[in-house]
Amino acid sequence: MKEARDAVRLEEVHKVYYTSKLPVIAVNGVTLGIRPGEFLVLMGPSGCGKSTLLHLMGGVDRPTSGRVLIGGRNLVSLSDNELSDFRRDSIGFVFQSYNLIPSLTAAENIEIPLMIKGLGKKDRDARVAEILRLVDLRDRSDHTPSMLSGGEEQRVAIGRALANDPTVVLLDEPTGNLDQGSGRAILELVSGLNRNKGKTLCMVTHDRALAGYGTRLVEMVDGKMKGEEK
Ligand SMILES: Nc1ncnc2c1ncn2[C@@H]1O[C@H](COP(=O)(O)OP(=O)(O)OP(=O)(O)O)[C@@H](O)[C@H]1O
Ligand SMILES: [Mg+2]
Repeated sequence: MKEARDAVRLEEVHKVYYTSKLPVIAVNGVTLGIRPGEFLVLMGPSGCGKSTLLHLMGGVDRPTSGRVLIGGRNLVSLSDNELSDFRRDSIGFVFQSYNLIPSLTAAENIEIPLMIKGLGKKDRDARVAEILRLVDLRDRSDHTPSMLSGGEEQRVAIGRALANDPTVVLLDEPTGNLDQGSGRAILELVSGLNRNKGKTLCMVTHDRALAGYGTRLVEMVDGKMKGEEK
């Protein structure tokens, strides 16, 4: 079965937010597969459900119904503890707003997932050095986020997402807050993860000019997938 080889697979996924007013159907029956080594770009108008879909793929949130499979493993059937362990080991998530810890340096932010995983100091230091080199921030390792530019903060966030060597990396508008030059630099880094390190990627963006970095483009409207291109 072709589907069984998908790195990420959503089957008939729905997500409904129940608020005090009407329920909001943010994701309305999405079936989508991402093959290993693919770099999927996800576009669509504001509010169509892109971030919600990415959160479901990454196990950051749970669907109201449907199945979410990463490497064939159904996230829906995992307990909260199992899900957070799985997320830590297998999925790198890059939030639009970076979500760095302001009191920690770039190196320490990257070290957090390694500490949670229980790696010893020597292994952590070696891995942090390797990641800082990858995201080209060796000379900023002891800067806290307020001492970094937006592009540098985003590179720390990407480094942190890569610390535990996940197979799947999900990025929510990684260039949304950056000027064009820094945005391009981030995209070069991200597409290198796909080309050179074989990571499976899904990136949400508003910028059609960036869609060309991906290997496939899909569009969402009103919680559903539109026709596919490329
Ligand atoms: N926690 C929540 N509670 C209630 N409604 C929510 C919640 N999160 C998102 N929504 C609603 O779900 C819909 C989809 O939101 P989502 O953030 O996924 O959109 P998006 O496509 O990422 O938009 P943008 O491009 O502006 O980031 C929106 O109508 C939003 O108002
Ligand atoms: Mg969004």
